[in-house]
Amino acid sequence: MNLELKVATLENVDEVLKLHYQYQVDSILEEDKKDGFITTAFTEAHLSQLITQESGLFIAIKDNKIVAYAMSASWEFWCQWPMFQFMVENLDDAKLIDNDLTVSNSYQYGPVCVDKSVRGEGVFEAVFKFSLEKMSERYPFMITFINKINTRSYEAHTRKTTLKVISEFSFNNNQYYKLACKTS
Ligand SMILES: CC(C)(COP(=O)(O)OP(=O)(O)OC[C@H]1O[C@@H](n2cnc3c(N)ncnc32)[C@H](O)[C@@H]1OP(=O)(O)O)[C@@H](O)C(=O)NCCC(=O)NCCS
Repeated sequence: MNLELKVATLENVDEVLKLHYQYQVDSILEEDKKDGFITTAFTEAHLSQLITQESGLFIAIKDNKIVAYAMSASWEFWCQWPMFQFMVENLDDAKLIDNDLTVSNSYQYGPVCVDKSVRGEGVFEAVFKFSLEKMSERYPFMITFINKINTRSYEAHTRKTTLKVISEFSFNNNQYYKLACKTS
């Protein structure tokens, strides 16, 4: 597959938001929910901040169309949402192979989204690896979380990346796995 991977710029925001809202919990088609959905309702301002302050929006383009995105950013960026404040307060609940995980040596990856037209074709692995490589220049460790009901995402991340489950937690009546890996 001819796939272009790039760090998104402001001109990509509208198209990423279109992809995002196709799979965001409030607007996703009922029939697509079984393959996972994204909870956070990102705005144009959030994505612009992610791009200009964090260089943290990674996209995959096929035939001139954005078919996947992965977000990655500092804890400082994510703490505008209560769930991440909770994660920061509990960063010390698990280590990664004897390494303490802190707000300065780790970042938060996700959400990630692959358009259903290209799922299962390696696009997920490509955009994941690309974001990890870029973020490895800034951080030694990556942390993420997966809702326990999102079995497709869990399968993809635990079988197709080096991420390992390091703990579990609940927030707002949802159950999550916390995962981490080294960036290089
Ligand atoms: C999660 C996501 C990024 C994974 O990308 P993907 O291209 O679908 O991943 P893959 O198909 O390569 O891998 C998923 C694996 O789970 C399997 N799978 C598919 N549906 C599944 C389900 N409902 N439950 C469990 N496993 C499932 C697939 O068969 C595949 O394994 P295989 O390659 O060994 O056959 C993508 O499905 C997606 O964008 N979903 C909507 C948004 C989302 O949930 N994002 C993650 C949360 S932030």
